[in-house]
Amino acid sequence: MVGARNVPILATSFETVVKKSLSDVRFFFTVALLVNTSVTIAQSKPDAKMDWFANAKLGIFIHWGIYSVNGIDESWSFHNNYLPYANYMKQLDGFTADRYDPARWGELIKQSGARYAVLTTKHHDGVALWPTKLSTLNTVEKTPARRDLATPLVESLRKQNLKVGLYYSLLDWSDDRYDGFTKSEKRYDITKEPARWNRFVQFYQGQLRELTTAYRPDLWWFDGDWEHKAEEWKAAETRKLLLDSNPGVILNSRLMGHGDYSTPEQDLPLERPKDKYWELCMTMNESWGYQPSDKNYKTSSEVIQIFAECISKGGNMLLGIGPKADGTIPDEQTNVLKDLGRWTNKHSEAIYGTREGLPNGYFYGPSTLSTDSTIVYLFLPYKPSGSVMLKGVKNCINRVWVVGNGTKPAFHVRMRPYWSQNAGLLFIDVPAQALDEQMTVLAVLLDGKLKL
Ligand code: GLC
Repeated sequence: MVGARNVPILATSFETVVKKSLSDVRFFFTVALLVNTSVTIAQSKPDAKMDWFANAKLGIFIHWGIYSVNGIDESWSFHNNYLPYANYMKQLDGFTADRYDPARWGELIKQSGARYAVLTTKHHDGVALWPTKLSTLNTVEKTPARRDLATPLVESLRKQNLKVGLYYSLLDWSDDRYDGFTKSEKRYDITKEPARWNRFVQFYQGQLRELTTAYRPDLWWFDGDWEHKAEEWKAAETRKLLLDSNPGVILNSRLMGHGDYSTPEQDLPLERPKDKYWELCMTMNESWGYQPSDKNYKTSSEVIQIFAECISKGGNMLLGIGPKADGTIPDEQTNVLKDLGRWTNKHSEAIYGTREGLPNGYFYGPSTLSTDSTIVYLFLPYKPSGSVMLKGVKNCINRVWVVGNGTKPAFHVRMRPYWSQNAGLLFIDVPAQALDEQMTVLAVLLDGKLKL
């Protein structure tokens, strides 16, 4: 049967079975048991403070720092001794930001469909993009930009109604109070100079106080925690100080276990990660910062596929961009953001506010569920060469449409005879002209909450 089918197959067959078998009490109970044991996918309500994060799905990760001057690895290039520290720091003199247009950045990020952005306020090299009073190593005092680069971006993001995330590296390979420097050279041993280490902890907590007071971020994106234990960082105290001043703020996991969500990096999980909240952070090419020699960009379609995989498994994607030292965003990156924007805008109902999709085995591709679990969104990873198949869904199907296009493709159910409790197979025939140029999404409206 083709088109809309509103008759609840499950109820009809159940009634028939019961009528036929009224005398067979044992059979009746078996059927009742089968009906009752259908798995209803109940989605637990995210903790209130994590709500916006769970619904946001897409964020943009901005790595902007002096490493964009020579186009080399952020901080790691001197840490790994690819060049001497002094030469790395010479990049300060080339960090002009003279074409920096934070309003444009905000618009572009908004246009991509992201709901939040995370800015590197300070990477492992210790260079602060805000006018910290606790160190002279900041863009106002040490670069020709001579200005606070963080404030105007925070304002622009807020103007675009985007949530503001601040990346902050706990470790600081430039600060004399910090023990680590390059991979072959340590400054000191913290067990031997605990007072010096304590001065560092006070320094970093002081910088966090400055940032929390100035920007009241929605999210902290810590990094560089691996060099010390939670107790050494005073991680619990840091968490408390940030939450006391800003109770709803979200912390990523890189505070030695004192965060709210996990951050798989450059690695798309094959299975749903164990943590309730998670976010894949990923570069567009192979580099976090601007590196003109790195042309290894993912195509927009690849980025979209990866994004769909993330949301299908209940996660977010934090997609990296690396602006140039003059403050412009490279064309390759702008283009991906725009393509992503076209796609996210068209398919917004299948993305924002949805929940993780079907378990493995039900559909060949990513999927999401509407918050009330009555709509399954199927993301077609390939152009279908025949009917699109959905397996194991026990509901009856009220309607199917192509998201953002409106076409109602023909569909039919196979292998669900009236006398059986089989879920059957749903086949959907998507007309070629309804396919999206990058990734088509189908909406399958069920007769109630999803039952598998
Ligand atoms: C790593 C790197 C760093 C990068 C970050 C982004 O931890 O140390 O350079 O900024 O990942 O996730």
